[in-house]
Amino acid sequence: MRVPICFDKTMRELKHLAIILDGNGRWAKKRGLPRTMGHVQGAKNVEKVCRLCHAKGIKYLTVYAFSTENWKRPEDEVKAIMGLLNQYLDSCIKTSKKDNMRVRLLGDREGLKEILPKIEELEEISKDNDGLQLQIAVNYGSRNEITRAVKDIAKEVKEGTLEIETIDEDLISNHLDTAGIPNPDIMVRTSGELRLSNYLLWQLAYSEFYFTSCAWPDFDEEELDKVIASYENRDRRFGGIKEE
Ligand code: FPP
Repeated sequence: MRVPICFDKTMRELKHLAIILDGNGRWAKKRGLPRTMGHVQGAKNVEKVCRLCHAKGIKYLTVYAFSTENWKRPEDEVKAIMGLLNQYLDSCIKTSKKDNMRVRLLGDREGLKEILPKIEELEEISKDNDGLQLQIAVNYGSRNEITRAVKDIAKEVKEGTLEIETIDEDLISNHLDTAGIPNPDIMVRTSGELRLSNYLLWQLAYSEFYFTSCAWPDFDEEELDKVIASYENRDRRFGGIKEE
């Protein structure tokens, strides 16, 4: 039997865009600059792309800024990225009211002692903002996120506040860092690599993928329009089939 599914406009509306910000280092190297300059440019571009997404009616934007594996990078590079994040958080705190942007962190907060108070301040002051919903993944790894969720669920079972029989996909989703946030409609990775690098493995189960050779600092309105146009031409079947 064919499963009838709806292919109206609302199913193709791009509500949530997730991006792997890749290629900052190569962008800098190509210009004879230190890698950290690529991150400076990459951070500036996050601000620009937030404005573009808002202008184009994309409600949720999730960016992968620093993975659980990125701590392996040289200390000065890690410091530079954390410094940029710190500056970005300061600027978001200052402009939170005016920008009406809600900002949330995805990632393991345990390893983020230095910037955590600022992140939590921004989450608190922006929690009622209903403009762009920005998620920044920092010290994030999907396997780490799922492991933390499993531990939380196990703890609730052990304490007797949760019955094993009530564990379902919604309950698991609600224990992830993205609880309450719709799954991404499309995941974009810049700079030519064709892999997920431990990004939103659960949440991207039915998302569309878009890979571009464009380095993150060069990702502009024209590139975003290409993503939107590509998304509008995809047939999302969510495991069903299209009615002829
Ligand atoms: C990947 O490029 C980029 C990162 C690991 C860091 C991304 C961080 C920022 C853009 C700065 C802060 C972010 C915000 C949200 C303000 P790469 O260094 O792996 O590039 P490569 O593959 O060319 O070496």
